[in-house]
Amino acid sequence: MTIYEGKDYKEICEKAAELIASEIRMNPRAVLGLSTGSTPIGVYDRLVEWYEKGQLDFSKVTTINLDEYKGLGAEHEQGYRFFMNQYLFDRVNIDKSRTFVPDGTEMDSDKACCEYEEIIEEKGRIDLQLLGLGANGHIGFNEPGDVFIPDTHCVRLTESTVEANSRFFRSKEEVPKEAYSMGIKGIMQARHIILLASGKQKAQALYEAVYGDITPGVPASILKLHPHTAVFADEEALSVI
Ligand code: GLP
Repeated sequence: MTIYEGKDYKEICEKAAELIASEIRMNPRAVLGLSTGSTPIGVYDRLVEWYEKGQLDFSKVTTINLDEYKGLGAEHEQGYRFFMNQYLFDRVNIDKSRTFVPDGTEMDSDKACCEYEEIIEEKGRIDLQLLGLGANGHIGFNEPGDVFIPDTHCVRLTESTVEANSRFFRSKEEVPKEAYSMGIKGIMQARHIILLASGKQKAQALYEAVYGDITPGVPASILKLHPHTAVFADEEALSVI
């Protein structure tokens, strides 16, 4: 795990975007693992800027997202497919048939998860996985628990995650209580991983992920076992370290 300290959010987004852009330039058919939440927005904005200047071409890129709320479709403003369209896919020349997000409208969890797992396997190993960090140490929607779950699964969201994500919804009651998430195996199979963390509210989780034991109680701690994980964190996120 290599840690890069940026002075602020803008700087860490710039660094992460540079790595993603180089991956696409070196390998136009790159498979990118993408994430949602407020943290990666600055990265997507930077990538869009470079695309608009003619410096990036997404036409052959494939993307596989980490997760989706169960019950939310592409048209739901807080759904992750909607988010990806809004912040990246609708702003660049990506072929949307090569963009994958778990199907939140599939209410049969086993079916939704098996189908997504098949997509992950079919597309091959992810070249570069972008991750945000939950304040409780989650990655994707791999919530703290007793075991690491390898495959795509349906997650019962923890109370703290529902609370944290309620800022995007009109009320806490509107936050779906379940989600589909890529498992730890899918994430750990990526060739390179970028973990982005910004702000004081991530400081404790980041400290535990970087210096604590490797434990499913802090899902991000597993990243220490990955040979190529780069953490981009700002001063506030590193304030406990
Ligand atoms: C959600 C997503 C995660 C994301 C996390 C942190 O729970 N499932 O993938 O990393 O939120 O979000 P934020 O960046 O908004 O703090």
